[in-house]
Amino acid sequence: MQTQGQFTYSARMRRELNGMVVAITGASAGIGRALAELLAARGAKLALAARRIERLEELNGALGGAHLAIAADVSKEQDCQRFIEQTLARFGRLDTLVCNAGYGFLCPVHEVPRQRMQQIFATNVLGTTDCIRFAMPYMLKQQPIAGWRGQVMMVSSVVARRGLPFFGPYSATKAAQLSLAEAMRIELRQQQIAVTSIHPAGTDTEFGDVSASQSGGKRPQRVTGEPRQSSHTVAIKMTKAIEGPRPEVWPMRPTRWALSLATFFPSLADAVLGRRSDQIGDTARDGVQ
Ligand SMILES: NC(=O)c1ccc[n+]([C@@H]2O[C@H](COP(=O)([O-])OP(=O)(O)OC[C@H]3O[C@@H](n4cnc5c(N)ncnc54)[C@H](OP(=O)(O)O)[C@@H]3O)[C@@H](O)[C@H]2O)c1
Repeated sequence: MQTQGQFTYSARMRRELNGMVVAITGASAGIGRALAELLAARGAKLALAARRIERLEELNGALGGAHLAIAADVSKEQDCQRFIEQTLARFGRLDTLVCNAGYGFLCPVHEVPRQRMQQIFATNVLGTTDCIRFAMPYMLKQQPIAGWRGQVMMVSSVVARRGLPFFGPYSATKAAQLSLAEAMRIELRQQQIAVTSIHPAGTDTEFGDVSASQSGGKRPQRVTGEPRQSSHTVAIKMTKAIEGPRPEVWPMRPTRWALSLATFFPSLADAVLGRRSDQIGDTARDGVQ
């Protein structure tokens, strides 16, 4: 609903996905790839970025070949700039930028070397803010569609609201994305830019394999009874939030309420997470290089 000089999020405002331009970082696997498949099926024009260009080209071919595949390492500022500029050169506008590229690793916080800390922030946080900074001057000049000039979507995590033991640096990057989204949403609402943060719970993707390879082969045991979801389920919720922008999306809804409770009862949250950490701690405490 549009009010005088101010724009608010409304479920009634729907954007047409057919012909919409969506740029996705981390589209070569997992959630990014699942989102690309759903959006392409609805007629969106896609710009796909990741380091593994052969994966992106294979995906583009499977989706009909009309999309843009760009090799980019989002931890490098110039790659973010090139990705955004080539997207605009090809499609002439950018309706939604999905900052999805990211990874995690397993290590107690006090053992994480400075360089590893810098690397994870370079990918998960600076990869997000650099893409946004290069995209925003263009988005701000676009004519609005169904009320929005453009949208930034950040794929954060449930751990943004509560750090996960032995995934401290990863959790910190996801909390940073949430804070950035909260601030930007207010900063840019007069200019009709939507900002949406996504908070998946454990999702079956390559994330676990990448995390293990980043952690010297160490992999946390699956916690008995921990609910998981598919990348397709997460992508469906993201697609809905691209069609009708909203502030936050928690694809596994109970996690949102559970984590809200954790802010009121931190000792209880510590006790619950303490039990979890007993299951993964021995693996992680060996240290990671
Ligand atoms: N899986 C989960 O349980 C879960 C839960 C909550 C949130 N998330 C978040 O969801 C997002 C997607 O993760 P996923 O689960 O789909 O994992 P995934 O299957 O491992 O996919 C990660 C994607 O990010 C890309 N990527 C990683 N580092 C990159 C870099 N430096 N530059 C460009 N692209 C890079 C990878 O592509 P290349 O390797 O080809 O570059 C890949 O396409 C991440 O931000 C993650 O934090 C995941």
